[in-house]
Amino acid sequence: MSMRTPFTDLVGVRHPIALAPMGGAAGGALAAEVSNGGGLGLVGGARGALDWLDRELTLVTGRTSRPWGVGFLTWAVGAAAIERALSYRPAAVMLSFGDPAPFAPRVLAAGVPLIVQVTDLDEARRALDAGADVIVAQGAEAGGHGGGRATLPFVPAVVDLAAPRPVLAAGGIADGRGLAAVLALGAAGAMIGTRFQASQEALIPAVVGKALVEAAGEDTERGRVHDVARASGWPHRYTARTLRNEFGDRWRGREDELRRDRAAQEEFLAGTARGDLDVMPVWAGESLDLITDLPPATDIVARLAADAEAAIARVARAGVPDRAH
Ligand SMILES: Cc1cc2nc3c(=O)[nH]c(=O)nc-3n(C[C@H](O)[C@H](O)[C@H](O)COP(=O)(O)O)c2cc1C
Repeated sequence: MSMRTPFTDLVGVRHPIALAPMGGAAGGALAAEVSNGGGLGLVGGARGALDWLDRELTLVTGRTSRPWGVGFLTWAVGAAAIERALSYRPAAVMLSFGDPAPFAPRVLAAGVPLIVQVTDLDEARRALDAGADVIVAQGAEAGGHGGGRATLPFVPAVVDLAAPRPVLAAGGIADGRGLAAVLALGAAGAMIGTRFQASQEALIPAVVGKALVEAAGEDTERGRVHDVARASGWPHRYTARTLRNEFGDRWRGREDELRRDRAAQEEFLAGTARGDLDVMPVWAGESLDLITDLPPATDIVARLAADAEAAIARVARAGVPDRAH
């Protein structure tokens, strides 16, 4: 069975699977392995630090001959980083969280497909107006930053709005059943973060990998305590899903107080620097229930594709008795 979709055709990949451009965690090695497995690996360029980009984009171009891309935080990136990324000839550039209009024309003029991640319908409309080739509809189940919509109703609403432009679903997808489900919702594929963060190639400390494998979806929560503690500059409308921890429990609901408390901020920075899970944010989504190992990313892609095909076949078979009546 083929899982060819308008997204796989547009970017030239075998499977309708994209690696979320997880800031810091999705470096060139992880992106290359997702691409080598037949998905689209997206390097997590975050705010666009040029030396980091040079290192990781050199790595991805050296490790794969398949299409790959790079993503940025729209509210924080500058034109120089977009320019630098384009010089490495990516197969796609992705912009998330913020108004894509200032950067979209440059990406589109380079003939590079523009992917824009959105968290509500207003952002989806703005992304379409800016000329996005692919929209990522992100639900609140997602790990890391995002909005408040749930994946199940949000994805088909964005599919209807964006048609005929392809939509990827993001948030809570970690196995073939999830991929099959979002294809049934009309998505042209899935963008997956948390599952790929728990992989051999992700740029994460061992202690984080262990925590991801041991924790469950219920151990996560959305909030802004960690962003306030590190004065990250994230726009207020975006919260982040992290593992619950002691620091978050202590400051939840007291964010204004935390903003003024230098000692608590220093405690946060020191705890994060020494990798203390009671303090540092571990960005992770509700799909943790489904994650019990840290395999190579190519294995994750292969499993996702094979299990999605099996799930679709299972649903098709289940329909036969009805049709026989
Ligand atoms: C560790 C981590 C870091 C992330 N960093 C970014 C980022 O820098 N830019 C971005 O567009 N999205 C980022 N995201 C969100 C993803 O793009 C995506 O929406 C999310 O991972 C999908 O949900 P899932 O984690 O349930 O698969 C991050 C997600 C995680 C888990």
